[in-house]
Amino acid sequence: MNKTIAVIGSSRRNGNTGNLIDLIANKLDIEVIDLSLKNISTFDYEHNNINDDFLTLMELILKHDNIIFASPVYWFAMSAQIKIFIDRMSDFLSVDELKDKGRQLRGKVGYVVSTSISEEIDDSFIESFTKTFNYLGLGFGGFIHANCHNGFHSRSYQDDIAGFIEKLK
Ligand SMILES: Cc1cc2nc3c(=O)[nH]c(=O)nc-3n(C[C@H](O)[C@H](O)[C@H](O)COP(=O)(O)O)c2cc1C
Repeated sequence: MNKTIAVIGSSRRNGNTGNLIDLIANKLDIEVIDLSLKNISTFDYEHNNINDDFLTLMELILKHDNIIFASPVYWFAMSAQIKIFIDRMSDFLSVDELKDKGRQLRGKVGYVVSTSISEEIDDSFIESFTKTFNYLGLGFGGFIHANCHNGFHSRSYQDDIAGFIEKLK
């Protein structure tokens, strides 16, 4: 099995973020999980949602060493799909039976793939991932950002994509 897996949270699977992660995924021959197709509900303090798709998805993700989070910038922040997914990591901290599973995240490495209509990605966007990774015990492997002001043009990002892929090999 490949050591890397990606999750995408975008409001359109084949939009800018989808195109960027697909390029990376094709080169690495890795699976891309579309969070929009999963039934993952927002964090529930009562854990009445424990049987939705979150845990099954995490079982799959935990079989990998590297986890890529692909998100567009929606209002200066990660997409709602990615945020809901990350919020659910709190299940690992608050459900006793899941704490061992949560510890399996330790030592894995998280990566960020983002698109927006700005040349630069805000530090606050990246930090919302890196601080979460740090809390969960994941390392941070790096990020790639594409300015899609005029759509996603892969040729403009050939070098960045090659550099990003190198980090994942
Ligand atoms: C709801 C929404 C909010 C957005 N907010 C921002 C933003 O804060 N900063 C920015 O540069 N682009 C923003 N954009 C533009 C998207 O980040 C950009 O078009 C991105 O490439 C879309 O990726 P997608 O095709 O995967 O949705 C926003 C787009 C949408 C739909």
